[in-house]
Amino acid sequence: MAFLSDAITRIKPSPTVAMTGRAAELKAEGRDIIALSAGEPDFNTPEHIRDAAKAAIDAGQTRYTTVDGIAPLKQAICDKFARDNWLDYAPDQVSVASGGKQILFNALMATVNPGDEVIIPAPYWVSYPDIVALAGGVPVVLPCPAEDGFRLTADALRDAITPRTKWLILNSPSNPSGAAYDDTQMRALTDVLMAHPQVWVLADDIYEHLVFDGFAFATPAQVEPGLIDRTLTMNGVSKAYAMTGWRIGYGAGPRALIRAMAKLQSQSTSNPCTISQYAAIAALTGPQDYITESREAFQRRRDMVVAGLNACPGIDCATPQGAFYVYPSIAGLIGRVSAGGTKITDDEAFATALLNETGVAVVFGAAFGLSPHFRVSYAASDEALREAMSRIHRFCAGWQEP
Ligand SMILES: Cc1ncc(COP(=O)(O)O)c(C=O)c1O
Repeated sequence: MAFLSDAITRIKPSPTVAMTGRAAELKAEGRDIIALSAGEPDFNTPEHIRDAAKAAIDAGQTRYTTVDGIAPLKQAICDKFARDNWLDYAPDQVSVASGGKQILFNALMATVNPGDEVIIPAPYWVSYPDIVALAGGVPVVLPCPAEDGFRLTADALRDAITPRTKWLILNSPSNPSGAAYDDTQMRALTDVLMAHPQVWVLADDIYEHLVFDGFAFATPAQVEPGLIDRTLTMNGVSKAYAMTGWRIGYGAGPRALIRAMAKLQSQSTSNPCTISQYAAIAALTGPQDYITESREAFQRRRDMVVAGLNACPGIDCATPQGAFYVYPSIAGLIGRVSAGGTKITDDEAFATALLNETGVAVVFGAAFGLSPHFRVSYAASDEALREAMSRIHRFCAGWQEP
């Protein structure tokens, strides 16, 4: 009898975590490493949020709470959906968990049966296919190349839907491409979904506030209210308020789904951290200045990074609408040999050689299901980004012909 379960052998460790870990190891060995591999804001959590957490501790809010979130937090989340997305949810349609990741996990584990198909546009966030596989489902990965702006087209979605399709996972703005769907692009997809009532929509809106150049964020249930009874709108405080370590994410959707997710959570992690829940109330109801300030900083960095990468021979970098990632193509470098003597057979070879030869850590595109690309997280200081761009430039300029 095998000791490990079939379910656990179907999944792999997160490649982004692995790359960040490798960069940390090299740094500990004394190498001069610039890690552009992690997906978290480099800013501190705003002071009023930290103060709310300290006050919660002092007020004795240190015990278990209701499994899927305290009432005032659920109310603050309903108010947020009404304010930002014109979505009208009641508190019993809201679930709070230890990060947006747990919301996705709960939703998929609570609904996916063996053989159920889940449509995942690529490049995708690394965890989607693995959570689907853990649940016994079939990830149906649809490549969305740079020529399509890394966005799923209505035709590709229509062609991929089968009677076994249970969910479409839609992440806008996207990790890793930064691509976002405007109202018209989103409507093209929701029109297709309206013709297929068995398909549910998992909207991962975690980067909602990080949109640039005046881009208007759109979420499926807002664009097409007819989908509200089969949409889970997921969001969280991690990226919006620099709160990745606090572990608070939330989702809103039909009551039966929310109840099933709470049941699963009651038998696994129970309530998300009590103190963090009070901090999240302060984040959602307090001053929202951080959102504007971080958006401006990220837009400036995006522009610097896109220009820096496009100046590198063989790299082609599209300008994304949001998040804090770019997803350049290295098609122009495949088959060539780096100055350090590595033949660049694919994007993993590129990222490995880049780390070894220059100390810049990025994540290779195969991890996100679309090659040949790599992901740069520009959630790093301007100085680190400038230095990284000049190292990448030197790296790409020293190539030998194949
Ligand atoms: C696309 C996407 N969704 C969800 C998450 C989960 O975030 P958290 O669990 O911190 O709320 C992340 C984090 O990297 C992400 O990039």
